[in-house]
Amino acid sequence: MNAPRGAQTVLITGATDGLGKAAALLLAGRGYRVFAAGRSAEKRTQLDALAKEKNLPLETLEMDVCDDGSVQKAMASVYQRVGAIDVLINNAGFVQVGGVEDLRLEDWRRQFETNFFGVIRVTQAVLPRMRERRKGRILMMSSVSGFVTPPTQGAYSASKHAIEALSNALRHELYPFGIHTILIQPGYIMTGIQSTAMNLAQPYQEKFKTGPYASIYASYLGNATSTRAQSKTTPEDCARVMLKAIEAPRPKARYGVTPLATFAKWSKRLLTDSAADRIIRRRYGISCED
Ligand SMILES: NC(=O)c1ccc[n+]([C@@H]2O[C@H](COP(=O)([O-])OP(=O)(O)OC[C@H]3O[C@@H](n4cnc5c(N)ncnc54)[C@H](OP(=O)(O)O)[C@@H]3O)[C@@H](O)[C@H]2O)c1
Repeated sequence: MNAPRGAQTVLITGATDGLGKAAALLLAGRGYRVFAAGRSAEKRTQLDALAKEKNLPLETLEMDVCDDGSVQKAMASVYQRVGAIDVLINNAGFVQVGGVEDLRLEDWRRQFETNFFGVIRVTQAVLPRMRERRKGRILMMSSVSGFVTPPTQGAYSASKHAIEALSNALRHELYPFGIHTILIQPGYIMTGIQSTAMNLAQPYQEKFKTGPYASIYASYLGNATSTRAQSKTTPEDCARVMLKAIEAPRPKARYGVTPLATFAKWSKRLLTDSAADRIIRRRYGISCED
């Protein structure tokens, strides 16, 4: 798929903020016709105004990836305007922080409802027409957490590991139809994701401070804040990687974003499980009590 600008349509979920918004603006700037889906009416209005000001081929849509009716309505409105979607970017997602023992089942479910079932819901809605046309690309927003699992990140990481497996299956199933499934694996990039994670972790504050895993939570909070603040990779850098994945004649199965992603990928290949575990335990100050 060689960048036939202007002719290609792109649907991005969670596109009114962070990495999705950066991708929406970059792709629209390249001439793609972008449908930027989001939940918040206020953020959609702001993005529509920005697109109008910059004269970009970008329209926003209301879409909650957790809601069948919302996805169906959004897709109907896309198909009224264009025949099909050329590129789907499954980007919407959030981080639920919490230890495996601490997190309530409803929070595990909510994490998977957005990060995993939401992706399936939108992909199933887009695939029939994409398959009929025998071309298209599906970008899956994974993460370094799709192949490395730090403590307190079990729910988020499990959802991203699930995205990796889902994408592996799709890559094979869609091969005969000329549709590429491509994983994007960012490390830390400054967006609203961390403040959303902290809001969602509010019910667990007591456990963070005084529970049996308090010292691990304290390390997580310190690590997440400092690593994210030190990250020099911007949402626009990530958008450029997505563009590369969309325009590469033969796209790779996975594209890492940020030096952390490269480091983690090579560590995973070269280190034994016990060596990798030692690095993570040292970083989180985890030691045996006896
Ligand atoms: N930033 C990073 O360091 C990083 C690293 C690795 C992977 N990622 C992945 O990249 C993706 C984007 O993250 P980000 O950093 O850009 O976070 P962000 O700034 O918080 O943006 C997340 C977007 O997802 C949307 N969203 C959440 N739940 C939704 C739902 N049910 N339906 C529709 N939209 C929903 C949010 O919409 P609302 O505004 O309505 O909540 C928001 O627009 C996520 O999948 C994340 O896991 C990010």
